Amino acid sequence: MNDQQSRHPPTLPCRPASPQAGPTRRGERRTVVGVRREWHDARHRYAETGCVLVDENRGSPAAAVFDALGSDYEEAFAASEAHRASLAWLLERLPPAARVLDVGSGTGRPTAATLSAAGHRVLGVDVSPVMVEIASRQVPDAEFRCGDIRDMPFEDGSFDAVCLYFALLQMSRAEQSGLLHRLVRVLRPGGLFVLATVPLDVEDFDGVFMGQSVRVTSFAAQDVVGLVRVAGLTVLSERSVLFTPARPDATPEPQLFLHCRCEATAPAD
Ligand SMILES: C[S@@+](CC[C@H](N)C(=O)[O-])C[C@H]1O[C@@H](n2cnc3c(N)ncnc32)[C@H](O)[C@@H]1O
Repeated sequence: MNDQQSRHPPTLPCRPASPQAGPTRRGERRTVVGVRREWHDARHRYAETGCVLVDENRGSPAAAVFDALGSDYEEAFAASEAHRASLAWLLERLPPAARVLDVGSGTGRPTAATLSAAGHRVLGVDVSPVMVEIASRQVPDAEFRCGDIRDMPFEDGSFDAVCLYFALLQMSRAEQSGLLHRLVRVLRPGGLFVLATVPLDVEDFDGVFMGQSVRVTSFAAQDVVGLVRVAGLTVLSERSVLFTPARPDATPEPQLFLHCRCEATAPAD
C-alpha cells in the first residue's frame, strides 16, 4: 500500500458512504437473505431468457445499481488517467486482432472503445441491460452480452486478454476468488490480465454509491495481489492511485491497477 492509501480513512469515499439498507417499494427493509433470494431468482431468469431484467426489488443488485446509473457512471469515471494508462499498457503487448474479454464492460468506454479502435476483437459482458444497451450503441464494432459473468461459460484458452475493471465489488470474497481462477483459465498461456479495484478491507459494507444503495466487498491491496497470484497470474506491474470522480460531491477513492500475465495453465479452483 502506498503512502496516500495508508493515510486514507477506511471508507469507500465515492462507493459506499454510509451504512444503510435500501427500503423496498413497500417500505420494507431488504435483508441479506432477501437479496440472495432475489439473486437466485435472477440467475434462473438469465438461464431461461439470456438476459437478466431487474426492477427495484428483484434481480441482481449490481444490475439494479448500474441500470440506474447508465451514462452517469461514464461521465464520472471515464476520464481516469490511470485507467487509460492501464489500457495503453495492454495495447503495447497485445498481438494484432487479439480476442479480449471485458468483464463488467459498463458503457463500453473507455475499455471496449479503446481496444476495438485498435483493431482488437472485444467481447464485453455486463449484468446490467442498460449498460449493455449503451455499450452496444457506443462501440458497434465490439460484441456485448448481457448476463452475470459468474454464470457464463467460456472455452478454456480462448482469449488473449481479460480486462476486469471495477466489476468485483458486488461479489462475495469467495466469488471474487473463484471468478479470478475461472477467468485465468479462459486465457491462452502467456495471455494478459488487467484488473482494477478499490483495495479496501471491507465485507458486505452497506453504503451509497452515486446516490444508489450498494453492498460492497473488497480486499486490502496486498490481499488482491495475493489473490491474483494464487489464481495463477504473475504481476508484471502494479499502480495505486487516488481518483476523484467528476461529480460535484465526489471525494477521492483509492484504486489499484494490476497488470498481469498468465505464464502457464492455471491451478484448479
Ligand atoms: C463500476 S462499473 C465499471 C465499468 C467498466 N468496467 C469501467 O471501468 O468503466 C462495474 C460494471 O460491472 C458490472 N457488473 C457488476 N457485477 C457484474 C457481474 N456479476 N457480471 C457482469 N457484470 C457485472 C456492472 O453492471 C457495471 O457495469
